[in-house]
Amino acid sequence: MIIKRWLAPRNIVYFMFIVCVVTVILWKSEPAERGETFKPYDTEFFAKVQDSIFDGFDNITGTKNGSYIVPNYVHFLFFGKPRLSYVHSDTLHLRNITLPEEIFGQKFSKEFHVWHAGDVTRIRILIKYGGIFVDNDSYIVRSLDPFRKYEMTIGITDGYQLGTQVLIAHKDARFLKLWLESYRDYHPDKFYFNAGKKPMKEIINYMPELVHTVRYLLGVEGLARRLYIWDSWSNWRKYYSIHLVIRHRNYLDTLWNFLKWPNIDENNICDYPHPFGEMARDVYGDFCPKPIA
Ligand SMILES: *[C@@H]1O[C@H](CO)[C@@H](O)[C@H](O)[C@H]1NC(C)=O
Ligand SMILES: *[C@@H]1O[C@H](CO)[C@@H](O)[C@H](O)[C@H]1NC(C)=O
Ligand SMILES: *[C@@H]1O[C@H](CO)[C@@H](O)[C@H](O)[C@H]1NC(C)=O
Ligand SMILES: *[C@@H]1O[C@H](CO)[C@@H](O)[C@H](O)[C@H]1NC(C)=O
Repeated sequence: MIIKRWLAPRNIVYFMFIVCVVTVILWKSEPAERGETFKPYDTEFFAKVQDSIFDGFDNITGTKNGSYIVPNYVHFLFFGKPRLSYVHSDTLHLRNITLPEEIFGQKFSKEFHVWHAGDVTRIRILIKYGGIFVDNDSYIVRSLDPFRKYEMTIGITDGYQLGTQVLIAHKDARFLKLWLESYRDYHPDKFYFNAGKKPMKEIINYMPELVHTVRYLLGVEGLARRLYIWDSWSNWRKYYSIHLVIRHRNYLDTLWNFLKWPNIDENNICDYPHPFGEMARDVYGDFCPKPIA
């Protein structure tokens, strides 16, 4: 009886529908993982940094006497019309830069052009000048000076990828050279493959001593829940920097929050109740109406 009921045409249609949905979900959930392969150790590739001034440099202690070798330059990159309103600095250099169209003869993807070209440009900027590269939606909580004694410092995530949002490097850092070199095998269809995964699997995996890695406190992993959904998150002050993923709030935040605060701006930041509000008011609070005493 039950079996017969189950075989009713309507139930078969339901069943097939569910199978389709599950298949689509499984297929969609890991689009980045499909077709990703990594190269084995390549002697020729690593030979490119053989005679570096950093040969034998210690990635755990940095310079022996703690002196800084990374210059105190902070690099920002804005393509198109920057929405940057105030810069307070005693030395500020603006340089015109054009969005590159290709890397080692391979055209950048149409879909990810700005991001991929930006990833390559930040490597090139650091190779030219050294210093601290900061993404345009990174919040710097504390001084990054402690990392200036290393050849290069990067933030990594549990997902075994590195974060490009904050990079601290000497211009001759071996990792920079290899990272750029690894773009000879560019994957235009993958958003974060050449920037985040390939260098981790094909460089750092084999020569971890090239970089000083920071697992959490450079704030490059997904912190959106803490910033926009949690009610309070006092630990943010322990971080050095925090990637705000603010352009991704439309899918990382709850739908309810997103409808309530489609934008977070200089007006609603004054009473925005989630942890990001506290962070923003910490630097912007002077502009908010003072509570009447
Ligand atoms: C630290 O060591 C470097 C060379 O190893 C040297 O050039 C520099 O002057 C030293 N700095 C201090 C503050 O002792
Ligand atoms: C930051 O960079 C991204 C991609 O490069 C861009 O879409 C965004 O508009 C930039 N934000 C600002 C504030 O310039
Ligand atoms: C950048 O280019 C713009 C427009 O071509 C020009 O007006 C400006 O002076 C240039 N700035 C610098 C720093 O070269
Ligand atoms: C430094 O390099 C060693 C390998 O020599 C690696 O095991 C370690 O994780 C690295 N430490 C840091 C802080 O990056």
